[in-house]
Amino acid sequence: MRQPVAVYPGSFDPPTNGHLDIIVRATHLFPKVIVAVTDNSNKNPTFTLQERKKMIAEAVRRYPTVTVDTFSGLLVDYMTRKKASVIIRGLRAISDFEYEFEMALMNRRLNKRIEAVFLMPDEAYTYLSSSLVKEVFSLGGSVSGLVPESVEKSLKRSG
Ligand code: PNS
Repeated sequence: MRQPVAVYPGSFDPPTNGHLDIIVRATHLFPKVIVAVTDNSNKNPTFTLQERKKMIAEAVRRYPTVTVDTFSGLLVDYMTRKKASVIIRGLRAISDFEYEFEMALMNRRLNKRIEAVFLMPDEAYTYLSSSLVKEVFSLGGSVSGLVPESVEKSLKRSG
C-alpha cells in the first residue's frame, strides 16, 4: 500500500503551540506532512502569508518529515497537485465539530479520494486559538508557552 501524504491546512495567523502539537502528532502517523498555509480571503490576516510560513518553518525545523508550503484556491486542488490524500485538522472541543464536519464533507464531495483525519491536541491547548493569542498579546498579556518562540519574537516585532 502506498503511504499517504498528509496535508495540515490552515490560516495559522499566528501558529500556536496547539498547531505545533497537532503537527507532531501527525508526524507519528504519516511519513510526510505538509503544513499548508492559505491566504484565505475571508479573513483579514495580521501576518502575511510568507511571515506565517516562516514562523512555522522555524518551529518545525527539528522535524525532517515536515515541510511548509502556501496555497491559494481550493484545498482539494492543492492536494491533488501534491499527490496528498489525507487532510489533518485539530479538534479542540465540541464547538469545533460543526465547522470541521461541514468542511470535511464538502471536501469529500469535491474529491472523494481525500479523507479528513482529526487529531486532538494535548488538553493544555484545548482553549488556545490564534485569535485569543493576538488579543491577549495586543492587550499586554503574556503569550509565553502558548506560541513557539519564533512566533513570540514576531509578535513583539509587529507590536
Ligand atoms: O485555520 P482555519 O482558518 O480554520 O483553516 C480553514 C481552512 C484553510 C482549512 C479552509 O478555509 C480551507 O480549506 N480553505 C481553502 C479553500 C477551500 O478549499 N475551501 C473549501 C473548504 S470546504
